[in-house]
Formats: sequence, structure tokens, C-alpha cells
Amino acid sequence: MSEHASESSTRRHATSGRVLVAYASAAGSTAGIAERIARRIESSGHAVACRPADAADLTGVDALVLGSAVHSMAWLPAASDALRQAAAAGVPVWCFSVGAVQPRGRLTRLMARQEARRVEAGFPPGAVVRDHQVFRGVVDMRGVAWWGRVFYRLVSGPPGDRRDWAAIDRWAVRVAAELNEGSHRRRSSG
Ligand SMILES: Cc1cc2nc3c(=O)[nH]c(=O)nc-3n(C[C@H](O)[C@H](O)[C@H](O)COP(=O)(O)O)c2cc1C
Repeated sequence: MSEHASESSTRRHATSGRVLVAYASAAGSTAGIAERIARRIESSGHAVACRPADAADLTGVDALVLGSAVHSMAWLPAASDALRQAAAAGVPVWCFSVGAVQPRGRLTRLMARQEARRVEAGFPPGAVVRDHQVFRGVVDMRGVAWWGRVFYRLVSGPPGDRRDWAAIDRWAVRVAAELNEGSHRRRSSG
């Protein structure tokens, strides 16, 4: 984890709810998005911690923002495990997925929608998912066979860092607003 993330995980503001931003990332781009979201939500006055999903502790957490890199149209196991824990604890979750598909034409828009549905189908039953947002991450074709590169090029566009920070900020601001409305209270507390 970067220096920044560990700093972010220890900062605290006076606030009503405790928010955990957790992520499962294979190559780091999802971690970067999680840190950005954590900072945005924190700047709206919430106490926010940002941690890898396999180190997520939901004790005392009122709301979970949980993200994962998408591999083979599914979340990484650490994120799915954290979502299962949140379901068991009744903690509401705002989910984000990070993939490579660029929804720019009819076919790729359809693929993006299908991928989001496939990811959601893998969410454990009972999870209180308030929202699920898909962001583009980093398109890395190193080590991919030529036919795979052709396919990726068609669905993902050229390789590189495709993270849309403005879209990520907009979503984080929306989540923060929903948290402010009090929709993050645990189910047990009504
Ligand atoms: C093994 C592997 C499988 C992937 N499968 C998908 C996929 O099914 N759908 C997709 O949109 N992106 C897929 N990607 C692209 C990644 O999700 C994307 O590059 C993301 O930014 C990776 O996040 P990370 O840097 O946090 O690991 C895959 C990448 C890898 C390495």
C-alpha cells in the first residue's frame, strides 16, 4: 500500500458515521481509485479508512465502499469475501468494479452491461448493495497473446491508464451525499 493510503487510513474527522473503503487490486489501479474515493468522502466530513479488502475489519463500520478489479468478468476473491462479511453484519455497501471495457459503441456498451450484470450475479445473497458502479482501469497488454491483444484492442481501446478521475470523483461525491442523508445506518438500527 502506498504511503498516502496508510496516511489516509489513520486520518479522522469529527463525523456521524464510520466509512471503510476497501479494495481488491491485482496491479494497483483499483487501489488508486479506492484511495481517491476515500479522500473525497473524507473531505465531506466522514471518518474514513482505506484498506485492502483482505485486511478489512468491519467492527464499528457503518458503511462500506468496496471495489475490485474485474478478472474474467468477476470480482477478485478478497472483495467477494469482504462483501460476504458485510452481508452477514448488515453493513450497507457501495460497490465499484474496475475493468478494461470501453463502452463506446453498441457492442461494447452491451458487453459492459453484461459484464456489470455478471459481476452482480456473483454478489453474495443478503448483501445490502446501494449502488454498483463500473470504472475503467488500466489496459495492460503485456504478456497477452496476439489474438488476445486484437480482442482487447476492439473492446478496450488502446493500452494505458484509462481511469476517469472526474467520473470517479462524481461518484464519490454522490456516495458521500447518500451517506450524509443517513442511508448508511446499519439495518439493525433502522
Ligand atoms: C487476468 C486478467 C483478467 C481480466 N479480465 C477482465 C475482464 O473480464 N473484464 C474486464 O473488463 N477487464 C478485465 N481485466 C482488466 C482489468 O480488470 C483492469 O486492467 C483493471 O484496471 C485491473 O485492476 P488492478 O490494477 O487493480 O488489478 C483483466 C485483467 C487481467 C490481468
